[in-house]
Amino acid sequence: MDVYEAVRTRQSIRRFTDQPVPHDMLVRVLTAAADAPSGSNLQPWHIYVLSGETLRQLKRRIAQRVSAGDRDDPEFAIYPAEIRSPYLERMAVLGEHRYGALGINPGDAAARASVRAENWNCFGAGTALFCYLDRDMPAPQWADAGIYLQTVMLLLRAEGLHSCTQIAWTEYHRSVAEQIPAPPRQVLFCGMSIGFADPATTHPRIPRAPLSETVTFLG
Ligand SMILES: Cc1cc2nc3c(=O)[nH]c(=O)nc-3n(C[C@H](O)[C@H](O)[C@H](O)COP(=O)(O)O)c2cc1C
Repeated sequence: MDVYEAVRTRQSIRRFTDQPVPHDMLVRVLTAAADAPSGSNLQPWHIYVLSGETLRQLKRRIAQRVSAGDRDDPEFAIYPAEIRSPYLERMAVLGEHRYGALGINPGDAAARASVRAENWNCFGAGTALFCYLDRDMPAPQWADAGIYLQTVMLLLRAEGLHSCTQIAWTEYHRSVAEQIPAPPRQVLFCGMSIGFADPATTHPRIPRAPLSETVTFLG
């Protein structure tokens, strides 16, 4: 698979089969992903991979908390306080496609909440990774982590695997920390569900803004 195909076929998958992800595939991907660039080679990411009973326990614990309407206080802002144009419209495009594919009206809060809750079931995947950063790392190291995670996502494609990056895990960072030996100086940036895409499910592609909206060629 060439890089263009990996980029083209990567999409956030929200329904996985129960086929386990072979450990050697994950080791191959994570070994290769270590070559991702980072400012001054800090490699600021701390990655924890959960599967088997450890992940099942985490899913059960969060399911209880979701049904009790309980969640953790956020450790950082996920979006700006006010999402303005054109970001608001792009977010709406995601909502239309994501919930539209499931026949859910974006205005139906209860239905959306139950679909969102699938985040903490890893959308059926049996493997998830969690990316932590040291709390004192400023914005450039968070960007490094993003570059690293995209490298992982593209390499997963080369193995026939799919993924969904999920900041939703930060809503239950205390439960995640119960399963992960992350020291208190580390903060959970996001999780990523990993597995084989369910062929029986429609996985909508989310349209992007035209190039002219996001790229300016000068000179
Ligand atoms: C940092 C980050 C956090 C994300 N968090 C979530 C999440 O919590 N739940 C989810 O379903 N998708 C999440 N996504 C997926 C985005 O919604 C998705 O990338 C975007 O809508 C574009 O769709 P695509 O990935 O299918 O191309 C996240 C993506 C990124 C990069």
